[in-house]
Amino acid sequence: MKNSTTAANWADFQATNRQRRAIRDFNGAQISDDDIAAILAEAVLAPSSGNLQPYQLHWISNAETKATIAQACNGQKAAKTAATLIVVAANPAFGLKTATEQRAYVDSSAAFEQKSKAYYHKQLNMFERLLKLGAFPIWTPLVSIAALVRPSLSLLPVGHLGSKHWAARNAVFAAQTLMLAAAAKGIDSCPMEGFSASKIATLLDLPRGTVIPLVIALGYRSTDARIEAQWRRSEDDLVIQH
Ligand SMILES: Cc1cc2nc3c(=O)[nH]c(=O)nc-3n(C[C@H](O)[C@H](O)[C@H](O)COP(=O)(O)O)c2cc1C
Repeated sequence: MKNSTTAANWADFQATNRQRRAIRDFNGAQISDDDIAAILAEAVLAPSSGNLQPYQLHWISNAETKATIAQACNGQKAAKTAATLIVVAANPAFGLKTATEQRAYVDSSAAFEQKSKAYYHKQLNMFERLLKLGAFPIWTPLVSIAALVRPSLSLLPVGHLGSKHWAARNAVFAAQTLMLAAAAKGIDSCPMEGFSASKIATLLDLPRGTVIPLVIALGYRSTDARIEAQWRRSEDDLVIQH
């Protein structure tokens, strides 16, 4: 039983993963609100650093707002022909807010043993220190110099740049989960980073310090959408076995 389930899951995953392509020409058919809500519900289950979920997913359901954002996506056909758009917004401040909510949840839930509570408190305190104290711009040049010697330091959620990169990096897991969930429903997508972030941030009234790593176009592929072979670097070069 377990083996056949595993095989079926694998076949489904492979089909879904291969169904997902960057589609740039949609056929104009609308996606039901239920389907969008369902794929958003899967996206929120994406993993994030310390479970801090430092992002929001803006579902652009209003036609006028969608048209304005499509224009801000440099008029890309994927955006213009999409049935709907999802703007992925990331902000370290969202992470700090989650930390407060998560602490309250851990404290009030009977499901956590004392040892688990202590673990979560320690982790949340560490993230809060990093995101609060580390947010000062002075850290940015310091980390930048230190990263010359230790490159991995450039990934720390510290400084006004590092914390935004951290938030954006976390948001991208939700974006990919959303696109795979869409593919599983036969809905196509195109991730886009070609847009005017400032125009979109103003239109959506995003809080100060918010960055937009991606706008995702969703829709159903048009029959004459150009889809080339899915070229990738050789696996020998991409996957290194040790
Ligand atoms: C971060 C990111 C930004 C992208 N930006 C754009 C974009 O602005 N416009 C576009 O047409 N495709 C964009 N793409 C899609 C890529 O071109 C596409 O994923 C890649 O060519 C591989 O093709 P596939 O997704 O069909 O496998 C982007 C993809 C990613 C991950």
